[in-house]
Amino acid sequence: MGLEKFVIEGGRPLKGEVTVSGSKNASLPVLAATILTESPCDIGGVPRLRDVDVLVRILRELGMKVERDEMGRLQTQVVDEKEITAPYELVSMMRGSFCVLGPLLAKRGFAKVSLPGGCAIGDRPVDLHLKGLRALGAEIKIEHGYVLARADRLHGANIYLGGPTGSSVLGTANVMMAACLAEGTTVIEHAASEPEVVDLANFLVNMGAAIEGAGSHRIVIRGVRKLDGCPHDVIPDRIEAATLLMAAAATGGEVLIRNIDPTHLEAVFDKLREAEVGFNRNCKTVAVSGDRRANEVELTTLPYPGFPTDLQAQMMALMTTARGASVFTDAIYPDRLLHVAELKRMGARIKRINNTCVVIGVDRLEGAPVMASDLRAGAALVIAGLCAEGETTVRRIYHLDRGYDNLEGKLNLLGARIRREADEAPEKPPVV
Ligand code: EPU
Repeated sequence: MGLEKFVIEGGRPLKGEVTVSGSKNASLPVLAATILTESPCDIGGVPRLRDVDVLVRILRELGMKVERDEMGRLQTQVVDEKEITAPYELVSMMRGSFCVLGPLLAKRGFAKVSLPGGCAIGDRPVDLHLKGLRALGAEIKIEHGYVLARADRLHGANIYLGGPTGSSVLGTANVMMAACLAEGTTVIEHAASEPEVVDLANFLVNMGAAIEGAGSHRIVIRGVRKLDGCPHDVIPDRIEAATLLMAAAATGGEVLIRNIDPTHLEAVFDKLREAEVGFNRNCKTVAVSGDRRANEVELTTLPYPGFPTDLQAQMMALMTTARGASVFTDAIYPDRLLHVAELKRMGARIKRINNTCVVIGVDRLEGAPVMASDLRAGAALVIAGLCAEGETTVRRIYHLDRGYDNLEGKLNLLGARIRREADEAPEKPPVV
């Protein structure tokens, strides 16, 4: 299939109700965890998006049967445990797939998983994953771009997983999954506390694992011999929920967002309050009313429960038309700012110094042709396009298809005008 683009007619306030899909970043490790059992698993709420498709392809390469049933649930079953290779062609498409390493090693004793490589949001090392698995007794070598890991039976260990910018979400997931089948007790210090880690831990506990402390920075795992299959429903996607919320606010709309867990969004609500965006949270919904221009905010992205890096770009799009000057710092991914130049093409006033941006609110954005550089940058450009005057074309929307389940369908139901079209424009060589 050729490249596609979104053509967005801006200036239409979003109105109505929308239901958020299950979490991408919870689904990926939960699906990887199904490697840990020989029995079938039944996973609900898995969103339909490309990153999930890539992981499903990897699981099939790894000897698993994975099918979506008529209810939309994913049914998994291990068929052949001899397969241990997650190939470069697939892992390089999606870094999240690196979380098959821990379960493969723990269950099958061997794993050969491609190193994921770089991506548009910057250097994303995997040293913490490897440090944790080595501490559990794995022998690990890197050869020809692949991680080769081996262990007869892993053993429990005390592992400090803090990195230069805090904890690692998938590093914690990898080590936690491996430790479930290790002999003895593992303590992960400086563990990631993201809701996706908690969701994974809940699934593992239902499979028979003994895990305490998930959601805090100290997770204790008592190894067991065997895990069983079980049903699980992944948590709602907090990043999709907040993206829709910011789109509603940016367009001055009135939207009821369903299927959210508001406790996962405290940092976002705090910033929206500071911006004086009108919203009303309930136990599973949030109603947004963007009847006034937002006020300036100052924020730094941090590990959970801080403001998520996965929402920095979308929040910046909202603040391009706020009153006053907002300040954004991405402390997790200092280079995750490729949307800045694109937002400026639409009339935003942004000054960048290293990983900090000062966004001076303008009265309105103007539609323009722009290019998505990654998933969340793409979402920011869609938000900007929805509130801009005139037509915006967002190219390279395959980034959006990686991580949002039917984003344009949901926005169009809220009254947006977004068309998906073939992108005939030739890819230009980089300007030097
Ligand atoms: N880091 C290390 N060493 C490691 C691993 C990470 O130094 O071995 C550093 C990273 O460079 C980064 C920080 O630790 O500065 C946090 O990275 P983390 O490992 O937590 O990221 P991740 O687990 O690879 C997940 C999400 C990302 C999200 C980050 C941060 C999935 C599939 N991906 O990645 O989601 O940005 O946590 O919250 O869960 C997205 O959905 O758009 C996305 C990029």
